[in-house]
Amino acid sequence: MSVSIREVGPRDGLQNEAPVPTAAKVELLDALSGTGVGRIEAVSFVHPRAIPQMADAASVWAAARREPGVRYSALVPNTKGAQRALAAGFTELEVVVSASDTHNRANLNRSTAQSLDDITGLIGLVHEAGATVEVIVATSFGCPYEGDVPPARVAGIVERVLAAGADRLAFGDTTGMATPRRVTELLAVVPRERPVLLHFHDTRGTGLANIVTALDLGVTEFDASVGGLGGCPYAPGASGNVATEEVVHMLHDMGYDTGIDLDRLIEAARLAERIVGRTLPSGVLRAGPRTQIVSA
Ligand code: COA
Ligand code: ZN
Repeated sequence: MSVSIREVGPRDGLQNEAPVPTAAKVELLDALSGTGVGRIEAVSFVHPRAIPQMADAASVWAAARREPGVRYSALVPNTKGAQRALAAGFTELEVVVSASDTHNRANLNRSTAQSLDDITGLIGLVHEAGATVEVIVATSFGCPYEGDVPPARVAGIVERVLAAGADRLAFGDTTGMATPRRVTELLAVVPRERPVLLHFHDTRGTGLANIVTALDLGVTEFDASVGGLGGCPYAPGASGNVATEEVVHMLHDMGYDTGIDLDRLIEAARLAERIVGRTLPSGVLRAGPRTQIVSA
C-alpha cells in the first residue's frame, strides 16, 4: 500500500522562519527533490508584505532543479496569486480558504464568503490554462480565534468548491488543534468524491496519531515538513507541520511505501537545520532511523 507525502517545508516551513537567502531555498528544494518524495509544495505567491519570506518565489522556482517524477506545486491566496503562479510555470496550484471567518480575515483580509467567490473564478481561470487546483480548507479542525469549527461548516465549503470544479481537497490543521476524534468526525461528513489530503501541524503532539487515524479511514495523502520546519516567530508555542522523517519512519515500519529514502531525507533535514540556524524538533532527526544500531 502506498502513501503519498507532499513535502511542504520549502513553503509552510520557511514562511514561518526568519527569511533565508534565495540560494538556500533552492538548495533545500534540490535536496528534497533527490529524496524520492513524489510531491513538493515549492513556494507560495502571496503578497510580499503579508509574507516577506516568499517574496522571491518566482526566482526560487526559476533556479530550482526540476526532478522528473516529482509533482511540484505552489500555494496561492487569490486570483492574483494564481496568475503569478501560472506565469511562473506551475501546473498544480493550491488555493487556501479558512473555514473560520475570523481566521480568513486575519490571513487573507476578506471573509470566507468573499474568498469562496474569488475561488470560483480562480478555478475557471486555472483550468483554462490547463492546470489544476486543490482547495485547502484551513482551520478545518479548530480556529485559534473562534475555537471549535463545526465539521458541517467545513462540509458546506467543500460542497461549494466541488460545485466550482475543485480538482482536489485538503483539510488544514493550521494551528495543531486536531485530535483523532476530530479527524474521524470531519472525515465522516465531508464529501470524498475527489482526492483528499490532510495537513497537520504538530503543535500539541497529536500529528502522528491523526495520520494513523486518517489512514484507517482510507486517506493516503499527507503534507509534512522536513525536520518539522516551521512555527511562527510571533506566536509563542506555535510549531511546524508534522516532521516528514517522523512520518516516513513510522509509515515504512507499518509496511507502507512512500518512495522516500529515509537516509537522504534525514540529510535534507540536517541541511534545513543549517539553513535556519536552529535545532529542529524532529525526533527521527535527533535519534536516527530505528534501523541505526548502536554497537555496544
Ligand atoms: N501576490 C502579490 N500581490 C498581490 C496578491 C498576490 N497574491 N494579491 C493581491 N496583490 C496586490 C494587488 O495587486 C494590489 O496591488 P496594488 O495596490 O498595486 O494595486 C494589492 O496587493 C492589494 O490587493 P488586495 O486584493 O486588496 O489584497 P489585500 O491587501 O487585501 O491582501 C492577500 C490580500 C490575500 C493578497 C494577502 O492578505 C496575502 O497575501 N495573504 C497571504 C497570507 C499567507 O500566505 N498565509 C499563509 C499561507 S495560508
Ligand atoms: Zn500549515
